[in-house]
Amino acid sequence: MLKVENLRKSFGGVVATADVSIDFPTGSLSAVIGPNGAGKTTFFNLISGGLQPDSGRIVLDGEDIVGQPSSEIVRKGIGRAFQVAKLFKSLTVEESLRGALQSPLGRSLQMHGRFPTDDTRDRAHEVMQQLGLEKKADVVSGNLSHGDQKLLDIALALVLNPKVLLLDEPVAGMGPEERTQMIDTVYALWKKGGLTVVLIEHDMEIVFRISQHIHVLSYGKLLAQGNPEQIRNNPAVIEAYLGTPKEARA
Ligand SMILES: Nc1ncnc2c1ncn2[C@@H]1O[C@H](COP(=O)(O)OP(=O)(O)OP(=O)(O)O)[C@@H](O)[C@H]1O
Ligand SMILES: [Mg+2]
Repeated sequence: MLKVENLRKSFGGVVATADVSIDFPTGSLSAVIGPNGAGKTTFFNLISGGLQPDSGRIVLDGEDIVGQPSSEIVRKGIGRAFQVAKLFKSLTVEESLRGALQSPLGRSLQMHGRFPTDDTRDRAHEVMQQLGLEKKADVVSGNLSHGDQKLLDIALALVLNPKVLLLDEPVAGMGPEERTQMIDTVYALWKKGGLTVVLIEHDMEIVFRISQHIHVLSYGKLLAQGNPEQIRNNPAVIEAYLGTPKEARA
């Protein structure tokens, strides 16, 4: 279980995370939604250790991980993909994944040789297969389509076998067909079991279709949380983010 308790982060006068408390049960698929600037990415940056909170706790399986370096948080099982994919643009897909396995942060090129070569190859291929990237193993990352770059970004987190996978807008910038493929892939990954997935997403059709729990941020505050039905019909959420329901507009 990942539990966030009274988490707070300000940037000067802007309170990006205002005493937010959320539980992400083990094995669940949850979404964090809200308007631009609501604090969604900041929330992920705090969990993954890229930013330090001003106060509050982030508890993974009973242990408060606040203050631990990002590399340690990755090692403890929190993986993330980024709103803008962070790739080794000059390496091939396979090289990137094997490099990630050999570096403590998963994303720097300091090779530590923690894994024997054959193991990194097998694990890289396993993850490429899961994400439908196996035909692209030898393609240089910078030459991949936008959709495949987003997939590789997820693969870089997944290859380290996380317990919790944080996905920041996995379908941003994609066309309808790529979107469907990406979401089917993410859903299949989660459905296999064992992985806690937290998704930041602006595409509400996707959010309502696949999420078990939805948490709504607005101006850094947790405005509402519940299942898709509860969120869809919550007047405060409709006003702050969703707008008038389609039926009512017709
Ligand atoms: N490193 C930073 N320094 C200063 N202000 C920041 C920093 N990161 C985020 N902010 C501010 O914190 C607020 C929340 O930003 P954040 O990127 O978390 O929003 P978001 O919900 O992810 O938005 P979007 O949907 O556009 O991605 C914004 O007002 C933003 O300008
Ligand atoms: Mg964001």
